[in-house]
Amino acid sequence: MSEALLISQARERDVADPLSAFRLRFALPLDAHGAPLVYLCGHSLGLQPLAARELVIEELDEWAQRAVEGHEHARRPWVPYHENLRRGLAQLSGAAAAEVVAMNSLTVNLHLLFASFYHPVGRRRRILIEAGAFSSDRHAVASQIAWHGLDPQDCLIELAPPPGADLIDESAIEACLAAHGGEVALVWWPGVQFRTGQAFDIARIARAAHAHGCLAGFDLAHSVGNTPLALHDSAADFAVWCSYKYLNGGPGAIGGCFVHERHTAALPRTAHRGGLPGARLAGWWGHEAQTRFLMEAEFHAAAGADSWQVSNPPILAAAPLLASLGIFAEAGMERLRAKSVALTGFMEELLAPLEPRVHIITPRDSRSRGCQLSLRIAGGAGPGRRVFEGLRAGGVVCDWRTPDIIRVAPVPLYSRFEDVARFAQRLERVLEEERA
Ligand SMILES: Cc1ncc(COP(=O)(O)O)c(C=O)c1O
Repeated sequence: MSEALLISQARERDVADPLSAFRLRFALPLDAHGAPLVYLCGHSLGLQPLAARELVIEELDEWAQRAVEGHEHARRPWVPYHENLRRGLAQLSGAAAAEVVAMNSLTVNLHLLFASFYHPVGRRRRILIEAGAFSSDRHAVASQIAWHGLDPQDCLIELAPPPGADLIDESAIEACLAAHGGEVALVWWPGVQFRTGQAFDIARIARAAHAHGCLAGFDLAHSVGNTPLALHDSAADFAVWCSYKYLNGGPGAIGGCFVHERHTAALPRTAHRGGLPGARLAGWWGHEAQTRFLMEAEFHAAAGADSWQVSNPPILAAAPLLASLGIFAEAGMERLRAKSVALTGFMEELLAPLEPRVHIITPRDSRSRGCQLSLRIAGGAGPGRRVFEGLRAGGVVCDWRTPDIIRVAPVPLYSRFEDVARFAQRLERVLEEERA
């Protein structure tokens, strides 16, 4: 098909797209001539909702005009500011409102939740993770084990894909637990794997963990805002995420966490010690709000996930997220997912003729992926890196993950079918140049 014909067909799909107008609600990065770049990097940093600027400026103005009184008298008072984010986060994560809270960033939340949910006792002291886990998770989990005076070499089980494969089937997790479940305290797994884009069945993993007496926690950095989630029904014990990727909360935006209500319903409100369900690393923001400012020595935990808050929230890092959650609520996750499946499916279709020069390592079944496709270029990291750089020189923003992966993610809130077509054309040209 000619380049012009492909672009015109893609444009027809954009015209028919009921969500196409949402793109206008985002700041689009531009090239040197002022034309929008083909932005396929929302898996790393989501685009800025235009409303984010207004909400941040509103808070800067509140600070300028009211100073300390903004805590209680700003248009959106700062003391309960996280309440503004609760409904949107609960909807996107498939949780009850009290099961989620916006706080900190991902790895900090991992540590706070592990303090409550990783209790090595007797021979049940190991943590099951994926081999090739995101570096921050790997560091954090190993340090949690060491923090308990244990040896990560003994206590970390790192499950790898079969030799020569990139993906891990959930059945392999079940088999691992069947063999070692009695020694495993906690299963820690991603919702969507950052390098391969594989989406896992959270309910199935939680079920397998619970069948062997283990707890199950999840890193949802690449899931929330990308794939539909049903955390409450999945029975996951806890989860954490960041908001700068698919949630478009901006660099370093406030993260979030989920704690299943069964862990908090019977929570003794004053206990920190003695294992679950009471143990937590506490701070004043986890104290029940009504009596927090009595400043008493005794800690009375807030209900639900809120009790894991430690510090007062960063308002300027939360306001952009509020803008973005408003857009999600308007668009609706069901419609976004339908568009996402179509966009990524379109990309997959256009890449098919490039096999084997370009190999998609992400699962082909749309139920086992979000919007990201991870590509491996034939010939290894050298040509792969050159192709990645050629894409960037041609106005495509995607990213490179060592050792040899190019990640591309058409994000349904702001990517067009035309972007996908332009990306595929650019890739084909770069591959030709590489061959020449
Ligand atoms: C899968 C995954 N886990 C953890 C992190 C670390 O997040 P943070 O810097 O917010 O702790 C990231 C960041 O990109 C990530 O992609």
